[in-house]
Amino acid sequence: MKSFTNVFDLGDLNQALAEAFEIKKSRYQYEALGHHKTCLLIFFNNSLRTRLSTQKAARNLGMDVIVLDVNQGAWKLETERGVIMDGDKSEHLLEAIPVMASYCDLIGVRSFARFESRDDDYNEKILNQFIQYSGKPVFSMEAATGHPLQAFADLITIEEHKRTERPKVVLTWAPHPRALPQAVPNSFADFMNEANVDLVITHPEGYELDPKFVRGARVEYDQKRAFEGADFIYAKNWACPGVTRPEAYGQILSKDMSWTVDSEHMSWTNNAFFMHCLPVRRNMIVSDDVIEAPTSLVIPEAANREISATVVLKRLLQSL
Ligand code: CP
Repeated sequence: MKSFTNVFDLGDLNQALAEAFEIKKSRYQYEALGHHKTCLLIFFNNSLRTRLSTQKAARNLGMDVIVLDVNQGAWKLETERGVIMDGDKSEHLLEAIPVMASYCDLIGVRSFARFESRDDDYNEKILNQFIQYSGKPVFSMEAATGHPLQAFADLITIEEHKRTERPKVVLTWAPHPRALPQAVPNSFADFMNEANVDLVITHPEGYELDPKFVRGARVEYDQKRAFEGADFIYAKNWACPGVTRPEAYGQILSKDMSWTVDSEHMSWTNNAFFMHCLPVRRNMIVSDDVIEAPTSLVIPEAANREISATVVLKRLLQSL
């Protein structure tokens, strides 16, 4: 594996899951693989889980880790080519990338959607420059349109808790006070479409996800109908993806609190597990009682971020 940005980079998903469970049983078994190797983690945006779990994964594999918060202490980076750099940005990404790459063997990048241009975001303008100009294996730690380390951890968690061979998994939009990117729901759909689950996506009209990620999944605008018989509820907010309403890309179209997942919503399901990638706004996305219930998987899925990252970094190391 030369880079990791989506489900297809993993190849056979059952094989990847088997590797995840093998690593979970003995997470230091590949410690020799990363000896004298350095993993650089570059954050353009804040993080708790990704920052900690990816460092832990790199150390499981015996690597040294360097963490760079681009906006705290580094030179402010220009990302557009052709700009006259007479403003507050002192360094261009086109120099910074090969310089950073010269100090490491693997590079993780977190760079969220900027909502300035749908084309730039959906073409993964920042992440792809790292892939193109670093000459090193690059993995996404949440880019503009995908968060594959999260989705892989979510799939591991579903595999661990499923009660039927092919569970019904519902991805539901929920309200939020700020405009959030589509990276998590996109990658969740990307992974679930390749897994042995029955995926249903529910959201208010205007929030249609990009067809590249929805593929054959059922889209149901009636949240109650979507929840009926569900085994897993995966809640997430996202701003308008600009599919059916291009002019509204990145905007908040609704704050309808009737979409907040509470105990009444969960009563429509097949005693479903509740999932969310975290961080979560309580009583906007999910009620206190649902997130605190024994059926809430938010902590196990966060813990599985270490496992998904260990599998991915191990495979990237093996490609060197
Ligand atoms: N779920 C997730 O990626 O969390 P952080 O943003 O805290 O890394």
